[in-house]
Amino acid sequence: MTKPLNVGMIGYGFMGRAHSNAYAQVNHFFDLQYRPVLKAVCARSADKARAFAEKWGYESVETDWRKLVERKDIDLIDICTPNNTHADIAIAAAGAGKMVLCEKPLALNGAEGLRMVEAVEKARVPNMVWYNYRRVPAVTLAKQLIDEGRLGRIFHYRAKFLQDWTINPELPQGGTALWRLDVAAAGSGVTGDLLAHCIDTALWLNGPLDSINAMTETFVKERKHNLTGKVEKVGIDDAALFMGRFHNGSLASFESTRYARGHKALYTFEINGEHASIFWDLHDLHRLQYFDHRDQGLVRGWRSIHVTDGDHPYMGNWWVPGLQIGYEHSFVHQVADFLKGLETGKPAMPDFRDAYRTQLVLDAILQSAHEQKWVTVARG
Ligand SMILES: NC(=O)c1ccc[n+]([C@@H]2O[C@H](COP(=O)([O-])OP(=O)(O)OC[C@H]3O[C@@H](n4cnc5c(N)ncnc54)[C@H](O)[C@@H]3O)[C@@H](O)[C@H]2O)c1
Repeated sequence: MTKPLNVGMIGYGFMGRAHSNAYAQVNHFFDLQYRPVLKAVCARSADKARAFAEKWGYESVETDWRKLVERKDIDLIDICTPNNTHADIAIAAAGAGKMVLCEKPLALNGAEGLRMVEAVEKARVPNMVWYNYRRVPAVTLAKQLIDEGRLGRIFHYRAKFLQDWTINPELPQGGTALWRLDVAAAGSGVTGDLLAHCIDTALWLNGPLDSINAMTETFVKERKHNLTGKVEKVGIDDAALFMGRFHNGSLASFESTRYARGHKALYTFEINGEHASIFWDLHDLHRLQYFDHRDQGLVRGWRSIHVTDGDHPYMGNWWVPGLQIGYEHSFVHQVADFLKGLETGKPAMPDFRDAYRTQLVLDAILQSAHEQKWVTVARG
């Protein structure tokens, strides 16, 4: 018999759907002691929350997250709302003794992130942040190959996250649909939204970053604000680039933008080591490109590993070798690992403290760009 774990989810947008799907699927594919129960969904509009609850099978709705957090029948609070709401909800949830799962980036900035870390650690509640790309099987395989030492000493880590959806200067900022363009709701632009993913993966695969030198740009300086109706200054970064040094001596090169015409979600990373290189591309997420210089010269070349075999990470839980899975499965894997962590007492990562380290890199990027100088990354 599985043990029920009552989920109260806040926000029913893009991530609300991805998480709901993961809770619904996880026990079908993974053998686990715990079983998420879709107990309540919370959103400000009762009608919309009810429609979502009916579609996804939530038992009840709330319109005020504070009420949800206080409910005795909720074990876990899942935060799927804009970045400026994460801290208040997470701290209240931890105070009420709930497990807390929070979408990325953890917070608006490092100081806020630290308060969240302290809250969950003081309350000793299980916690995790949804940096889901770690659980794309090809990315998990990259981690395995690096940990086995196949790449040897690492020289370069290169990552990009490119989109093109904000080029139109007539696009307003703020409000329900466009909170990502409003610095008060988002905290930053592509730095917290896109680079955050690249940095989480990089710290996981390649260890801490010591120092960075960044530049950011806001190409469209003013946009109409959906909440005030007035044309207002744009406070987010539209593009961010940085170079840096990892603690292991390798060099970092990172870029993200929403102004790369033709690119929708082109997250790529490449790692060059002494013996081997690895390349991954979100648009082709089930493949890992691998080059090993130690191969015999005649057949040496980039191999494209189709990460679908039963002995590849997570893939034994899905279909037969050769059949691919997709984006949504990374969330199923993250829930599976979280629930397994409850069983084994070995928490799934990234927890709040781990995600706080990413937040400190985000702070360093914005500081470096603002002050136009190298910045040492604080250690969390
Ligand atoms: N892990 C990932 O790959 C990934 C992808 C997209 C978004 N995110 C993160 O997920 C979070 C949500 O992003 P999204 O794309 O789902 O946004 P979204 O705009 O699609 O949905 C946000 C939801 O929050 C609700 N909401 C806003 N304020 C609220 C409040 N005070 N109380 C209750 N509900 C409220 C909105 O009604 C909406 O349902 C953000 O932190 C974002 O950075 C992560």
